[in-house]
Amino acid sequence: MIINLELTALSKALLVATAMLVSANTAAEQMNATPVTQYSGSDLYMLNCSNCHGTYGEGDGAVTPDLSVVLLDLRYLSARSEGRFPEIFVREIVDGRTTRAAHGPQGMPIWGAEFARSEGLDDAAAERVNAKIDALVIYLESIQITD
Ligand code: HEC
Repeated sequence: MIINLELTALSKALLVATAMLVSANTAAEQMNATPVTQYSGSDLYMLNCSNCHGTYGEGDGAVTPDLSVVLLDLRYLSARSEGRFPEIFVREIVDGRTTRAAHGPQGMPIWGAEFARSEGLDDAAAERVNAKIDALVIYLESIQITD
């Protein structure tokens, strides 16, 4: 009887330990899959862009009425660019650090600088900033309507 109880306790402990190992592995696998940023492009978009550009990129986010410029629909970037996704333009406008120093006053934040402010300035942080910009560009490409 006592032995049985001990065995039960032991197997419970083993079960818990196994469960912990499995979840540790899953977490490690997830970290490997997303080594530099935990957010997907759509998460980043919802967090940083949708308040101006709208949930779907259509340009009617909550703060749009305060802006002095009309927001173009982000789902038609390719359509406005002869059917090809204008990746370099999008990357530069989203990052903004090299090409859009004067862009701020028009209302679109310079995201390269914003992300650097939250991530930090060392090499690993620079990698995370670039990964966020990459994820956003890939996300914007994925929402293009081309027909
Ligand atoms: C505070 C409001 C605001 C936020 C937040 C914002 N934008 Fe913008 N965005 C603008 C404005 C205003 C313009 C158009 C004028 C300009 O270029 O500054 C614009 C222009 C753009 C354009 C160029 C569209 C075109 O066809 O010319 C892209 C691409 C873009 N934004 C992507 C993003 C992404 C990605 C994010 C989030 C990381 C974001 N924006 C967040 C206000 C915003």
